[in-house]
Amino acid sequence: MNVQWYPGHMAKAKRTLEENLKLVNIVIELCDARLPYSSRNPAIDGIIGKKPRVLVFNKADLADQAQSDYWMDYYKKQGFTVVFTDAKQGDGVKKVIAAVKKAMEEKVSRSLERGRIATTLYAMVVGIPNVGKSSFVNKVAGKATAKTGDKPGVTRDKQWLNMGEDIYLLDTPGLLWPRIDNQLAALRLAASGAVKDEVVDTGELCAFLLTFIDSHYPGALEARYGITVPDASGEERDYVTETVIGAERLEKGLAILEACGKARGCLIKGGSVDLGRAAALVLDDFRAGKIGKISLDFPEVLDEEIDISIKNEEAATRKKEKQAERRQNYRSRKNAKR
Ligand code: G4P
Repeated sequence: MNVQWYPGHMAKAKRTLEENLKLVNIVIELCDARLPYSSRNPAIDGIIGKKPRVLVFNKADLADQAQSDYWMDYYKKQGFTVVFTDAKQGDGVKKVIAAVKKAMEEKVSRSLERGRIATTLYAMVVGIPNVGKSSFVNKVAGKATAKTGDKPGVTRDKQWLNMGEDIYLLDTPGLLWPRIDNQLAALRLAASGAVKDEVVDTGELCAFLLTFIDSHYPGALEARYGITVPDASGEERDYVTETVIGAERLEKGLAILEACGKARGCLIKGGSVDLGRAAALVLDDFRAGKIGKISLDFPEVLDEEIDISIKNEEAATRKKEKQAERRQNYRSRKNAKR
C-alpha cells in the first residue's frame, strides 16, 4: 500500500539521515502514541546504531491513556527513555529536553572529567511522515531563546535551535519510511494519516477502522454518529486472529460506513450513500480525535500478528531449505549420470 516508498526513496532517506546523524549526539525518535508499535520504523535500530535515543510518542492527546500506560511500561522495560507529547499544544516538550539531558548525563560527566568545558549537545528528530516532526521542531523554535546560524566547521549549512540547557536541535527532521512488512500495520498507519489517502482504498481502510473501533471501543460509534451498528456478518466482535482484512469483516465494516454516511447525509442522487465522502468524513473524525481517544496497537492483537508473521517466516525458511535440498539432489543425480 505504501507505493510512494520505493526502495530508491528509502535508500535516499537513509543516506540523508545517516549524514545528519553524524552531526548529533542524541536522537529523538518520534512515533505516534496511537500506534506505539506500528509507527516505529523497523530499520531504525540499525540506522541509529548505538547513539543515545529518547523515544517520544506524540499525539498523546489522541491516544487511549490505558494503552499509552501499557506501552510506556513496555518500552521502559526494554531500557528506553520514554516521553509522551502533544506537539500541537507543546505538552511534554520540556520533558523531552529533560530526558535528553538525562540520557546524556554520563557522556557529559565523562567529558567534564577529561577536562573539557564544552558540554553542548546536538539532537535531531526522526520519524515517519505526519507523526508531528515539524510541529515538534516548531514548538521548540517558538521556545528557542535564539536561532543560531552556522556553527563553524561542522555544520555550516545547518540551522540549530537552542532548546535551552545547552541542547541544540537540528531544524530539519529526519524522514523515515513507514513499516511495509505487515498489511494490518499498514492499515493502521493509513488510518493515522502516515500514508497518503490517494494510495489507499479508503473504503477498505474505513471497514478496518470501524470494525476495530466497534470491537475495542464499544459504544463509541453509536455515540458519535447516533447509529445502531449493523452486524452484517453476525460474527462476534473479535477479529484478533486476522492477518489481512477478510470478506466478512469488509462486509461488516462497509455496512457500518454506510450507516455513518447515512447519518451524516453523505448521499448521492437516488438516496444511496456516497461511500467515498462517508469514508473521508470518518477518517477526518478519527484523526481529529472526534470518535474518542483511540489507540490502534492493542498488544493482544499484535502478539497474534507477530506470532503469525514469525510462523510465516519459519514456513518460508523451510520452503527455501526444501527447494535447496531438491536442487542439490537434482545436481547430485545429474553428476552421478555423467
Ligand atoms: P510531520 O512533520 O511529521 O510530517 O508532521 P506535522 O508536524 O506536519 O504534523 C502532521 C499533522 O499532525 C498536523 O495536522 C499537525 O497539526 C498534527 N499534529 C502534530 N502533532 C500533534 C499532536 O501532538 N496532537 C495532535 N492532535 N495533532 C498533532 P494537519 O491537520 O496536517 O495540520 P494543521 O492544520 O493542524 O496544522
